[in-house]
Amino acid sequence: MAKRKIIAALAAMAIGFTVLAGCSTERPVGTPTTDPTEAAGGGLIGITMPTKSLERWNNDGAELDRLLKEAGYQTQLDYADNKPEEQVKQLENQINSGAKVLVIASIESKALLPTLQKAADAGIKILAYDRLLMDTPNVDYYATFDNEKVGTLQGTFLEEQLGLKEGKGPFSLEPFAGSPDDNNASLFFKGAWDILNPYVESGKLVVKSGKAPKTLADWTSIGILAWKTETAQSEMENRLNSFYGDSKVDAVLSPNDSLALGIAQALESKGYKVGSDWPLLTGQDADVANVKNILAGKQSMTVWKDTRELAKQAAKMVDQIIKGQTVDTNNNTYKNNNKTVPTYLLDPQTVVQDQVQTVLVDSGFISADKLK
Ligand code: GAL
Repeated sequence: MAKRKIIAALAAMAIGFTVLAGCSTERPVGTPTTDPTEAAGGGLIGITMPTKSLERWNNDGAELDRLLKEAGYQTQLDYADNKPEEQVKQLENQINSGAKVLVIASIESKALLPTLQKAADAGIKILAYDRLLMDTPNVDYYATFDNEKVGTLQGTFLEEQLGLKEGKGPFSLEPFAGSPDDNNASLFFKGAWDILNPYVESGKLVVKSGKAPKTLADWTSIGILAWKTETAQSEMENRLNSFYGDSKVDAVLSPNDSLALGIAQALESKGYKVGSDWPLLTGQDADVANVKNILAGKQSMTVWKDTRELAKQAAKMVDQIIKGQTVDTNNNTYKNNNKTVPTYLLDPQTVVQDQVQTVLVDSGFISADKLK
């Protein structure tokens, strides 16, 4: 009897050591696990993206889902069709399904506040993805690109291309801003307007439509709800019809590619021609249709945010949260009207026509066949 007990005890110890050895291995996110118990222990991660109708979120969601699954987690990936009430339902469902962490690219924050409280009460950690969750203590981390720098890159591009620093001008400018319910849009606008507004005030830049926000807080007056391409197109058509009868616009500040697409369509409909009177036009996200427009001379630049890197960083932070490790952040300046949110900021970069191949295609971000 005693001998059998000793053998059983030794066997139990052997299994214990194997399991412990398996759990203690540090495995970077994105490499397949070899330890079945860790895969099972990963748990459910909820991922909610705002919409499929804006190209970048399809890339973000798919990549984050892939990386978390590879790291041994179960995932629930939902898209809310730009409907806040839909996003609430999806988050409630993820909470009820036992999610341990919620990764949220919000549409707007207000509708989510009760659900964020419910998640916090259940001990669920919340990672704001690309868009900061505002006016709540219930957000634990934030992963994004430097949003103000996105705007600074756009403003600096126009400043340089027009030769404003060298005293050239006056030029006509039409500024646009993003969705009024998107905190990012206020930061994009600030970055650009800090560069451009002094030229508007000195008369070197003339906003013929009169739609130059008098203060940064007034940015929503030129905002395009839900970043809709067709809304940007009709707004640009109205401005051209009403204020540019016998003159041409020289530059357009577009905060992202979905708006730039609509603005380009408006310019085309009013007879603007590439190479003769087509204005400078900014953008952001390196959407395929816009990169094609850059190659065709219908958009001057885009600000590239490699969503693969953002997804990788977010997946790493989720893994660290689950494992109780120190979460990788590099910025503590993002305040959400309730608290300072520990953040990881990635670096955006300007891409112009002669960089499309080397930066976007050679990096594998856009396949060459999509640009044909
Ligand atoms: C912003 C995002 C940008 C922009 C816009 C529409 O919040 O940071 O990449 O494209 O939404 O998706």
